[in-house]
Amino acid sequence: MTGQPDQEWGAECTSRGASLGPAILALFLLSPSFSTRALAAGDSVSADMEPYYEWTVKNLAITTPIGGRRGNAARGRLLSTERKKGNCIACHALPIPEAEFPGEIGPPLMGVGKRLSEGEIRLRIVDAKQVNPATIMPGYYRNPKYLKNVKKKFRGKTLLTAQEIEDLVAYLVTLK
Ligand code: HEC
Repeated sequence: MTGQPDQEWGAECTSRGASLGPAILALFLLSPSFSTRALAAGDSVSADMEPYYEWTVKNLAITTPIGGRRGNAARGRLLSTERKKGNCIACHALPIPEAEFPGEIGPPLMGVGKRLSEGEIRLRIVDAKQVNPATIMPGYYRNPKYLKNVKKKFRGKTLLTAQEIEDLVAYLVTLK
């Protein structure tokens, strides 16, 4: 673990990322001084207007946390079943008894922390196409600059924030 940041995404970011982002955006859109130019200014913004953090792949893994901070496994567990967020449960079985009707399109994620390293798990969530170009698993943290045919309201955003990616990674590594 040497050389890895031990900082965590702070709790103060949690609810803000989820609820305040859209609220601020709504206020912004409603305000009379709103102009599209202002919004277009930061064209490389990820979900919830967070900056987009670059990542690099080595040996089919991303060893450094996206944005430099580690996630929280409890939040990741929640995200994995949240339909409007990760919605991993739509395709994967998870050891979460209260989550009903998991999908079977992807492999069950039980034991994934034993099969794959943390960095390998991170790459699969960030951009599964790097492992299998034909996969139907969405790339949750691809550079918005290179995404094509994106609906206007999703333009310039990643599907999940860096913190959400790290929360999911922190959760999946516990599945041994
Ligand atoms: C639309 C379906 C779909 C969704 C949604 C989805 N996945 Fe996947 N996932 C797959 C498929 C299919 C694979 C098998 C790999 C392939 O296609 O090459 C996979 C593979 C994986 C793997 C590698 C597992 C292994 O044992 O090799 C991980 C880890 C993973 N997914 C995590 C997630 C997480 C976390 C989420 C939610 C944020 C998620 N997936 C959402 C379809 C999905």
